[in-house]
Amino acid sequence: MKIIVTERIADDGIEHLKKDGHEVDVKYGISHEELLQIIQNYDSIIVRSVTKINEELITKGTNLKVVGRAGNGVDNIDLPACTKRGIIVVNTPESNSMAAAELAVGLAYAIFRNIPQAHWAGKDKKDFRRNKFLGNELDQKTVGVIGLGRIGSIVASKLKGSNMRAIAYDPYITDEKFDKLGVERCETLNDLLGQADLITIHTPKTAETINIINEEQIKLCKEGVRIVNAARGGLVNEAALYNGIKSGKVAAAALDVLSPEPNYDKKPEDQDYENKLFELDNVIITPHLGASTDEANYNVGTCVAELVADALRGDMVAAV
Ligand code: NAD
Ligand code: MLT
Repeated sequence: MKIIVTERIADDGIEHLKKDGHEVDVKYGISHEELLQIIQNYDSIIVRSVTKINEELITKGTNLKVVGRAGNGVDNIDLPACTKRGIIVVNTPESNSMAAAELAVGLAYAIFRNIPQAHWAGKDKKDFRRNKFLGNELDQKTVGVIGLGRIGSIVASKLKGSNMRAIAYDPYITDEKFDKLGVERCETLNDLLGQADLITIHTPKTAETINIINEEQIKLCKEGVRIVNAARGGLVNEAALYNGIKSGKVAAAALDVLSPEPNYDKKPEDQDYENKLFELDNVIITPHLGASTDEANYNVGTCVAELVADALRGDMVAAV
């Protein structure tokens, strides 16, 4: 069968599909408009988080049988539209959890100690005045985890290892899991906001979680709170965050995800992307790097290829 892969996955994944007898077209960075023109030629499409599998694409993809999401979040895929057409959607939710959790922890350290800012001041401007980069310790502070699922749990454990007190807000997780992780449950989001020195968000992007941190929530935070979002752009309202940083209420933020996101496959000269958050020195931004480790790439690429091949063969798969 014919499979199109629109975002970078591990070569081993592509090889797996070819060995299974499929014809694979690798078209990294293809535009939505181009994809609409050719999607009817394919039985399956493999994407990460940038390609939008919307209703229009599904309607034009008259031969589509399987959508493979190389990674975790499926907020870029119109699941009801796929279901209506009988298209199977598979993803690989566990294969990059460690990578994403490690990045979130790294971002927390980076914003507590101003590591990127200090590096670039020295490298770009020969400004080595270290008094400009006085930070704070994570030790004995409180981390508030919003969403204690796969990634949130790892982040909580790792930061407890940094001697932080861990609290979390997740109404869908049992008390047993909180107890097992040694994390204190917050009954409400407001309860978490009033206690956390560091807030780190690990929910999916749903109607309920979009803008989960907005102007009103920022008002309820501790003075000098720091915020990490390595989950999805739009969970933290960017205008509210901008104002929170400008007012000094939020000491710093680290974002691995934005809303909207830049095109991660375009060269700088072809990039047409503006975001006011880049103006702020105490906001650090990484290009959706959460899953970008060799290990996660390999896991995600091979796992999605196996799932897509199984589904195309008619074997049982765990669909989303
Ligand atoms: P998960 O499904 O295992 O956990 C999400 C948790 O959020 C669940 O426990 C759920 O109960 C909780 N939740 C849902 N709605 C909530 C709400 N309104 N309030 C509080 N909690 C709520 O997901 P995961 O695998 O841990 O992934 C977490 C996020 O990280 C997702 O958005 C995913 O797309 C994203 N992610 C980002 C990267 C990256 O590269 N930056 C990599 C992997 C995953
Ligand atoms: C994911 O949801 O798996 C991550 O955001 C990583 C990605 O898709 O690049």
